[in-house]
Amino acid sequence: MSELGALREQFEEKKKLGLSLNIQRGQPSDEDFDLSAGLLTCVGPDDVTSPSGVALRNYPGGVAGLKEARAMFGALLGATGNETIVGNNSSLAMLSNTLKWALIRGLAGSDGPWAAGPRKMIVTIPGYDRHFTLLEALGFEIVAVSMTSDGPDLDAIEGLVASDAQIRGVVFVPTYSNPTGDTISHANVDRLARMKTETPDFTIFADDAYVVHHLTDTPPRATSLLAACRSAGNPNRAIVYGSTSKITFSGAGIGFLSTSEENVKLISSYLSKEFIGPNKIEQHRHVKFLSAYPGGIEGLMRDHAKILRPKFEAVERVLDRELGGTGLATWTKPTGGYFVSLDTAKPVVERVVELANEAGVSLTPAGASYPFGKDPSNANLRIAPSRPPLAEVEQAMEIVALCVKLASAEYGE
Ligand SMILES: Cc1ncc(COP(=O)(O)O)c(C=O)c1O
Repeated sequence: MSELGALREQFEEKKKLGLSLNIQRGQPSDEDFDLSAGLLTCVGPDDVTSPSGVALRNYPGGVAGLKEARAMFGALLGATGNETIVGNNSSLAMLSNTLKWALIRGLAGSDGPWAAGPRKMIVTIPGYDRHFTLLEALGFEIVAVSMTSDGPDLDAIEGLVASDAQIRGVVFVPTYSNPTGDTISHANVDRLARMKTETPDFTIFADDAYVVHHLTDTPPRATSLLAACRSAGNPNRAIVYGSTSKITFSGAGIGFLSTSEENVKLISSYLSKEFIGPNKIEQHRHVKFLSAYPGGIEGLMRDHAKILRPKFEAVERVLDRELGGTGLATWTKPTGGYFVSLDTAKPVVERVVELANEAGVSLTPAGASYPFGKDPSNANLRIAPSRPPLAEVEQAMEIVALCVKLASAEYGE
């Protein structure tokens, strides 16, 4: 039997299993959520005032959030409480909000609203689809540069920003990037902070969603974009975002940002026109729960890693066993974050996703990690092993590997 025939036969056998597996969603598992079960009971009728004396049930307290929450989550992003705004349940909403105000009014150092003229934003590819759809919806022309193992391609970025005043900034994930798992190097942080830009208010929107999401016991030393920008004489250049969505409960926690104190004042003044203040009870209970957790946030993240690490190991094990040495694909081996990024040698990922669906495995749609959902090489697949139980990850990956082999054989030489 031909190789293609044998692969088809194996595929038909797998289909008969009638599986229903999903490695599409970058979400924590129920086991991860269970670690934060105490969040649901850690506050009670006596929690009416924050340790700093703010009445939790009433409006006063300001738009920048509770003092204790600003200190805790600022530290997570390498910033002080005064350099931090703690908001409601989504960092993505905070990023979107900053961008909208930049469009309507401008940011620190702006010569006017960004919406007054054409505007462009640099993104990294492969990247996070929600960044692309947000920027597209807000009318930015997207300029894509490659994500490298050292972070965004700085040679490309320096060339772009030195000559194009329409480029207002860059949006990327600095730590354990979605989907490649790459982390920006110290050298590239420094270059981003120092580079000469044509526009005076060039802004680094760093979405640090995975800043504490280590899979190893020896995480890389974090580099503070904020400190680098400050020492480069561009203190307002960076705004770093984070949230508890993959620390405690997804979409039911708190988002936050850190930036210069000047930016905090400006963004707070914008926010104060929108609402009286964020949900302080949510902030209070997060601080209370996370302070009491053994080892604090780090301790909780170590417990998440115990759940997540075997799943990432299973992905690597199956890919190594089934595709290692075949030349059909390469894949990342992240030391943190939520994803593995696989690139096929042939332009077959749409077919891989289609075949996997046929065999009962839901995969992230082909092209999802590229602007407009279009991967010009039809080669990149985002694998999200966090949500299903370990045994399902292993089973799903066997099918993914088989589909890569089959789609590649179908494509031919
Ligand atoms: C890079 C990145 N940023 C932001 C988010 C969403 O964060 P939030 O729930 O705080 O809006 C995600 C979720 O997958 C993500 O991968």
